[in-house]
Amino acid sequence: MIICHKKEELRQALDGLSGQNQSLGFVPTMGALHAGHLSLIKQGLLENTKMVVSIFVNPTQFDNVSDLEKYPRSLENDLELLKKLSNDIIVYAPSPDDIYGDDIASENFDFDGLEHQMEGKFRKGHFDGVGTIVKRLFEIVKPDVAYFGKKDFQQLRIIEKMVEKYHLPVKIIGCEIFRADDGLAMSSRNERLTESQREAVPFIYKILKTAKERFGTESAHEVTEWVVKQFGKQDLFALEYFTIADEATLESVKRKSKLKSYRAFIAVFVGDIRLIDNIALN
Ligand code: PAJ
Repeated sequence: MIICHKKEELRQALDGLSGQNQSLGFVPTMGALHAGHLSLIKQGLLENTKMVVSIFVNPTQFDNVSDLEKYPRSLENDLELLKKLSNDIIVYAPSPDDIYGDDIASENFDFDGLEHQMEGKFRKGHFDGVGTIVKRLFEIVKPDVAYFGKKDFQQLRIIEKMVEKYHLPVKIIGCEIFRADDGLAMSSRNERLTESQREAVPFIYKILKTAKERFGTESAHEVTEWVVKQFGKQDLFALEYFTIADEATLESVKRKSKLKSYRAFIAVFVGDIRLIDNIALN
């Protein structure tokens, strides 16, 4: 497995790859890899001749210094996991300097309003940071195909929008949410849960599944009220938002239409750990 820390090393490792019947797949990550990340990488390995995985905790997408500092980092372990998966993976694990030089700042993006919903409301500047890093990584890696998880559905939509608006020559694939057996969506942040918190958090997906059932007969407003009430009864959780939104615009639903696809989105604090999840409703 080739491990590159600088973009020149990566370009050298990738040189000569482009050509007929060659396809370069790419999975950008912030490391602390888990089965959710690995599911994207496995799909990429099946569909491409070579795969690049980047590992970079991107400072510009954190609105909160303590969240950035507490973000789990485990490069050695990540490399072990990737090696076990395939020797054909090329890892790009840059320093902030290799990406940003001495100007660690975001570009400003207009994602046609997608960036103002949900995560964008509660994490100021987050999607400018995500757009900045993903665009730079695409310029450095030059992948044919890039894989993103529906775990971060709003991020996936925003990347699709960026590719469309900037005519970036990459195909975006959205991958299903990978869950633990008890339903908890895999996340690097799960590592920080205590044993008792970990036992309690499958509640989040349980509520999402019931919300989906209720949405068959109830309005978005009724389902939302019900969810808020369920979290109100729980001391362990602080609900930040629960929103039922149109998958295309990410705007919250006022009136259901049979022609549209809807998804429920949730962000919950368990102590100081912020977890997000979502579910397709129809
Ligand atoms: P990170 O949180 O490390 O996630 C990397 C990719 O893995 C994202 O596309 C995310 O949606 C996907 N992923 C995480 N958990 C998943 C799960 N349980 N099931 C399916 N996919 C999952 O998302 C980021 O990093 C960053 O914002 C990044 C795009 C790398 C830019 O810095």
